[in-house]
Amino acid sequence: MSLNLKRKFVRFLLGTTAVFLFTACGKPDQKEQYNGKALIVQKCASCHNLKMPPDTYEDEKAPPMMAVVFHLKDFMKISMNDEKFSKFIPFVQDYVINPSKDKSYCDKESLKTYGVMPSQKGNVTKDELEAIASYMYDFYDQQTYLTQMQKRAAFEALPKGEQLARSNGCFNCHAMNKSVVAPSFAQISKRDAKEIRDTIQNGSQGKWKGFHVMMPAFKSILTHGHILTLQQWIQKDTPQRQEESAVKNRVETPWKVKNDI
Ligand code: HEC
Ligand code: HEC
Repeated sequence: MSLNLKRKFVRFLLGTTAVFLFTACGKPDQKEQYNGKALIVQKCASCHNLKMPPDTYEDEKAPPMMAVVFHLKDFMKISMNDEKFSKFIPFVQDYVINPSKDKSYCDKESLKTYGVMPSQKGNVTKDELEAIASYMYDFYDQQTYLTQMQKRAAFEALPKGEQLARSNGCFNCHAMNKSVVAPSFAQISKRDAKEIRDTIQNGSQGKWKGFHVMMPAFKSILTHGHILTLQQWIQKDTPQRQEESAVKNRVETPWKVKNDI
């Protein structure tokens, strides 16, 4: 080790010890830390569907939580994040313990269908509700939802073959026109159709010169139909793709709904 490197290493060690000492001296938290996400599942999921977006609208005992929060933010005209603390959290803390027809922002028709929410007094404390409401405010975010919907639309507009390639990680190794880790799809497109399908199904190594990674087998993941779609896409669509960046910019990664909390 050169002297310079050694010095750097010692400085690094000192640095990490300092961090350890620092955290070890931190005062233990006085107030109990509540986990809003765990609590909302435990206390509210029996009536409110918590997914964003909701996966079903059947057997509803209450409006989906996403609808509740979007609605509340709208009606309270919340525009700045500090109103989360001045308006949103206090409302939820109060409503869940003392719900009433007059306080509810729920429209009259929905109130009739669902009935007023039964008070959760005894079921949940004010401190727990603070954590729940804070989680609700952050998680059910309109902007995030909109972005996800736009990503989904962009993903669904791609050819089926490209959707499969993106959601199965083919682009971790392959690119449209550049051959780095694996031959490009443009190069591959000139190969025989059956050979292409066989390789996707069974994997391969050493067939192409200059690539050292192994092409994994996809037979346990993809159906014959999927493999056919991929092969046709590679041979039909990729040669026309001149600018790889144009594709990349459209959708970076496969779209995923934040359908879970
Ligand atoms: C027993 C079923 C039930 C449970 C459990 C429940 N809710 Fe509700 N909740 C409802 C119903 C029904 C409505 C719609 C009618 C209304 O607005 O009162 C509602 C409405 C709401 C509203 C909207 C009020 C408005 O003005 O639009 C909030 C906020 C709310 N619930 C929060 C919670 C939270 C937080 C929990 C968990 C601590 C929870 N609820 C648990 C049934 C329930
Ligand atoms: C871990 C990296 C990696 C992943 C992931 C990967 N490949 Fe490959 N692929 C390779 C390599 C490396 C080769 C060259 C193999 C060789 O030389 O035998 C290759 C070759 C191919 C060929 C060449 C066909 C032939 O016989 O000449 C096709 C088609 C192909 N891959 C399609 C896909 C598809 C479709 C996916 C996703 C479902 C995928 N690959 C995922 C690395 C990968």
